[in-house]
Amino acid sequence: MIKIILTSFLLLSSLFSVESNIAIISSPDKSLELKLISRDGSIYYSLNKNNITIINNSKLGIIADKFNLSDNMLITNVDFDSKNETWTQVWGEQKVITDNYNEVSVSSMSKVEKYNIVLRFRLFNDGLGFRYEIPTQKDLGDFNILDEVTEFNFEEDSKSWWIPAYAYRRYEFLYANTLISEINRDKFSELVEYLWGDRIGPEAVQTPFTTQRSDGITIAIHEANLTNYSSMTLKASGTSKMECDLIPWSDGIKVKTSASMNSPWRTIIVGNAPKDIVMSTLTLNLNEPNKLGDVDWVKPGKYIGLWWEMIGTNQSSWGSGPYHGAQTEKVKKYIDFGSKYNFDGVLVEGWNNGWDENWCCNGEGENFDFYKPHKDFNDKEVREYAKSKNIRLVGHHETGTQIDNYESQLDSAFAYCKRNRIRVVKTGYVNDGSQNIKRYDADGALHKEWHHGQYMVEHFRKVLETAVKYEVSIVVHEPIKDTGLRRTFPNMVSREGARGQEFNGFMPKDYNNKPNHTAILPFTRLLSSPMDYTPGIFNLKDYRYYSNDDRRINPDHHIPSTIAKELALYVVIYAPIQMAADLPENYEGHPAFQFILDVPTDWEDTIVLNGEIGEYITTVRKDIDTDDWYLGSITNEKSRQLNVDLTFLESGMNYNATIYKDPIFGGWEAKPEEVEIITKQFNSQDSYNIDLPSGGGQAIRFSPIK
Ligand code: NOJ
Ligand code: CA
Repeated sequence: MIKIILTSFLLLSSLFSVESNIAIISSPDKSLELKLISRDGSIYYSLNKNNITIINNSKLGIIADKFNLSDNMLITNVDFDSKNETWTQVWGEQKVITDNYNEVSVSSMSKVEKYNIVLRFRLFNDGLGFRYEIPTQKDLGDFNILDEVTEFNFEEDSKSWWIPAYAYRRYEFLYANTLISEINRDKFSELVEYLWGDRIGPEAVQTPFTTQRSDGITIAIHEANLTNYSSMTLKASGTSKMECDLIPWSDGIKVKTSASMNSPWRTIIVGNAPKDIVMSTLTLNLNEPNKLGDVDWVKPGKYIGLWWEMIGTNQSSWGSGPYHGAQTEKVKKYIDFGSKYNFDGVLVEGWNNGWDENWCCNGEGENFDFYKPHKDFNDKEVREYAKSKNIRLVGHHETGTQIDNYESQLDSAFAYCKRNRIRVVKTGYVNDGSQNIKRYDADGALHKEWHHGQYMVEHFRKVLETAVKYEVSIVVHEPIKDTGLRRTFPNMVSREGARGQEFNGFMPKDYNNKPNHTAILPFTRLLSSPMDYTPGIFNLKDYRYYSNDDRRINPDHHIPSTIAKELALYVVIYAPIQMAADLPENYEGHPAFQFILDVPTDWEDTIVLNGEIGEYITTVRKDIDTDDWYLGSITNEKSRQLNVDLTFLESGMNYNATIYKDPIFGGWEAKPEEVEIITKQFNSQDSYNIDLPSGGGQAIRFSPIK
């Protein structure tokens, strides 16, 4: 690590600006170099990769009602530190994680208000994390952050993959692919989807935000440990420069806080190529260790559910009526199927009251009950039946974003789970509006909040912490993005937070997920955490009724995938809790179902063999309990052949491979529901050609021959 401290040595770089070096540090493997300078009383950072500047001087600081800690700063101290340790995940893509970084922390004081701030930077081999720390100090109690001046001044105006912030459907959009300078909502409307509604808020994108330079270097901006703060979006400027933009409260304040305060870490994940960023661990390393201790009640596993028949096939309803799905006898049939095939859970949606009024999508409507079952659903009978079949229900709390209503029942709701042997709950926050979440203040006045501001960040944490008390794990739909919290709270098992399979269910052909969507997710959304994408649909065509009442098949629906690709997604998309989303009758007797039954959800190790953003990816993972390896490979609409070396297999060992592939001349349009299952033998010196037709995939299980 290079340490340079030149705080007293001033360089006159131009007639008007006064610049001095503060520090330079490099990553442990020397591939990254961080440089901090002070110019005209402000602090700037820049970042090099392989001696190439990738982030130019970018300004830092925080502006609050009581201070401006971005200008007129006096550097008072510079400290260095480093760490090289490993730690073990409770569950994950890999068992052991290395936490290896060089650190510099810069203490400074505003010359005007005389308040202190510490900027702490950690440089890992896979990127940079930095945060603002405002210590306890005289006369500084509560304060309101009005702006966070964190710039990301990209050296190159590169191609980027992004979804808009301040838009009605939260994170559930397909990705736009434009130059950084082209980011704006009109461009999104032109390329991806017309953005309706009021254009409130700045031109900004959500994180993880990923960009790839012309030399291949791939950079993703995100944040780690989002706690008691509002979430960061990136404001576009029509150039390659982006800036932190915090989602405000309804009164315009960005963050309501008090000293001492640590901001979330701002993270810049960097790799030589897209496949290198997928396995970045810096987000997890920048979170606090597991604070729940021994969590033997958190169990990775697979579930089926009474779900696709509502959202996908349109056979059933969440609410009351002749087609109500959550009826005791029907749930018992799902339990039979789940138990027969050793699933861990059966999700039941529509089990409670609250679905019959206009609950969606404006935060209004009937209040949901979270511990009182609908009359069609005999909870005691179902609980005992599930117990006798050695399976557990997965609970469902759709809140409709009626936050007060949910919070008032939170303890009772999770106590109900515990009583009923429910160990995983899927929560939901449907609210198709932007700044549309009702909050009542102490005086009873109504305010409308954004989905990703501090109010909701704190709500999501409250739910998570309440779930801990009752030993329940959480899968959040319409969530706040993950920022690595699963390390601290291993019961935070999964989230949606992107367009999932459901869009293939209810959206007609021209509006569902395109074949490239799942080839973009690993390099964007999935950098942040596991995803409840809910793969595994086998009936990809002619699966949906016009409506509950009109039970003719609507030919307008065709999922742009193949059975082989659906299988590959269990490896490509990591989640400790994975759903087999299709109806039991589409699995029963189907030979490809075996892969879903075999594939684990907890891994010893993961390697990304190849990948280009939006085009293809091949991932291999080693089972935590056996010596088996699993491979998942997917392509976008282009057919291709990928050659992979099987050096990940243990040398000297022979493996039986069960290969699930698309037929020749197959693909999502031609033969989506045909899958070939063949067996071959391999060892670590072999290579293998993966043939992927348009929109297709391939899944392989490698088992050692003992
Ligand atoms: C949207 C969720 O993503 C979906 O999984 C759920 O079934 C519905 N909301 C209803 O809660
Ligand atoms: Ca959703």
